[in-house]
Amino acid sequence: MIAYASRTGNVRYIVNRLQLPAVEIEADVTLEEPFLLFTYTDGLGEIPQKVRQFLDRNGAHCRGVIVSGNSNFGHQVFGKAGDAISQQWQIPLVRKVDMRGFSEDYEAIHQYYEQCFREELVG
Ligand SMILES: Cc1cc2nc3c(=O)[nH]c(=O)nc-3n(C[C@H](O)[C@H](O)[C@H](O)COP(=O)(O)O)c2cc1C
Repeated sequence: MIAYASRTGNVRYIVNRLQLPAVEIEADVTLEEPFLLFTYTDGLGEIPQKVRQFLDRNGAHCRGVIVSGNSNFGHQVFGKAGDAISQQWQIPLVRKVDMRGFSEDYEAIHQYYEQCFREELVG
């Protein structure tokens, strides 16, 4: 399962391309199963508020974070929401994607997803 947040449609576009089970984040949603988080970056490298709230409820089930940003913001803050989430919730940073990303990004995400949930299934 991928839990995602998208404000202007880039993350939603990628999630649709991935064709993996996905749910859009609402602050009050509770997930009972492991998931990968996919978020955009806000402010100057900030975690979107509803993603923060979502993680406060569900962070324990999160197996990795994927972040979309815009590299034009500069490398100090590019995709920094992903670094911040990784640090604060001790979650592996799977991939930083520039805007809608490229096929290498989709392949890397797919690979991590399969590896991650194969291991979950095996235990
Ligand atoms: C107000 C605003 C602030 C942003 N701040 C950052 C930022 O600090 N770092 C970054 O990498 N991208 C930043 N972005 C770019 C978005 O994270 C990027 O376009 C992302 O692909 C948006 O995903 P979405 O279309 O799914 O909402 C910002 C975009 C907006 C509109």
